[in-house]
Amino acid sequence: MVMVGGIWETPADRCGPQLTFQAVAKPTFKTPKGTRDILPGEADRQRALVAAFGEVARRAGYGHVMTPMFEDLAVFKRLGDSTDVVTKEMYDFEAKDGKRYALRPELTASVVRAFVQHRPLIPWKVWYEGPQFRYERPQAGRYRQFSQVGVEALGTDDPAIDAEIVALAWNFYKTLGLSEVTLLLNSLGDPTCRPAYIEALTAYFQENFDSLSEQSQFTLQVNPLRVLDSKRPDDQPIIDAAPVMVDYLSPETGEHFGGVRRVLDRLDIPYVISPRLVRGLDYYTRTTFEFVSTALPGSQNAIGGGGRYDALAADLGGPDTPGIGFALGVDRILIACDEEGVFAPPTSLVDVFLIDATGGDEAAVIGAQLQAVGIATDRAYDARSMRAQFKVADKSGASLAVVVGDEELATGTAQIRTLLGQEREQTSVARTTLIEELKKRLT
Ligand code: HAM
Repeated sequence: MVMVGGIWETPADRCGPQLTFQAVAKPTFKTPKGTRDILPGEADRQRALVAAFGEVARRAGYGHVMTPMFEDLAVFKRLGDSTDVVTKEMYDFEAKDGKRYALRPELTASVVRAFVQHRPLIPWKVWYEGPQFRYERPQAGRYRQFSQVGVEALGTDDPAIDAEIVALAWNFYKTLGLSEVTLLLNSLGDPTCRPAYIEALTAYFQENFDSLSEQSQFTLQVNPLRVLDSKRPDDQPIIDAAPVMVDYLSPETGEHFGGVRRVLDRLDIPYVISPRLVRGLDYYTRTTFEFVSTALPGSQNAIGGGGRYDALAADLGGPDTPGIGFALGVDRILIACDEEGVFAPPTSLVDVFLIDATGGDEAAVIGAQLQAVGIATDRAYDARSMRAQFKVADKSGASLAVVVGDEELATGTAQIRTLLGQEREQTSVARTTLIEELKKRLT
């Protein structure tokens, strides 16, 4: 957003080509709570972010995967009985076929379901993007429909892939220009060592039961690990002194975690060991990580996260297959970009604006010719006056105007004129060389 004449103007306002707002009464219909319209300009920025992510992923050997936006409810139930995502936030419904489905709250379960269904060659490395749905309490940076980009890799538990995946996310943030990002890293152990830790943790929380919040007392009965995820201030002193998983890792798990750290060190990726990081989904084992932006307020500062889920494929009926991945929150990343003043929205959607004073069809003809060679072109409509057309051209964000009047039509010429606060410059060119002349000036 930019400040124009004392009001915040969104990129969408700036890119709106005609700038004639209708006087509207209060709308009858609005977006549902927790959802929003993403208008031109901002939507273009989001598309550019997804394209940049796809490129980073493609270069690392990840193929694009697309799965349905809804799945059998049972697929998502595997995310865990003690997670809010499953118990409180799922958009589930009974369809006309009498079956229960849910809008996807995340993509890992869908991707693993697809892996089990199609049995591709391993390692299977994929990237994805798209909307997710969670019935959460909406606030800035937390929506009921939000977008993620992410990757999943199934079929290997080589620590090198853990590090590759963490590095991929890290490098993507850097590509956008974000610098206020911290990587939190932990190992949650595996089935050989986690039971002893859970036992120690449960005993510790039982000793301090009366000091825990009511919610955490309840969570303790369902999943003691999840208590570590409590954000309630009264729980914090107890959580801060709780036993930590890294002290209970088996030699193998410890060695695996050491391997991940070694590669990250070699790649110069800074991380903070965060022994109480548990994440909000139940499927995680061994390596887990989260990216927080120090440019965002504490409660919504997680701009991405992920980890290993070595039991999920078997849990969804497939062969025992290790897996790891992450998802990054697109909406929050873009707020962080605004805060850091990087990856700005496009100031314009077009390069050239056509001014047609012939009263004929020249704008239509020239527009089609320019668009055919890849020059983004817009025009005015409704046979407006030259003055009105120039006003719209100036606000369109295009850097050049092409002007055709009766004289140009008669002599087979067009005027190329600079826009956008540049020094006014106007040149007459032959219509036959118009494309060439525009290309010269646009590069
Ligand atoms: P998650 O931590 O639930 O992980 O979500 C990843 C990111 O999505 C969060 O860090 C946050 O940026 C964004 N996000 C989550 N909920 C919302 C919301 N309500 N509004 C806006 N943004 C939100 C997962 O989804 C896992 N599937 C990640 C993963 C992939 N683990 C392994 N593979």
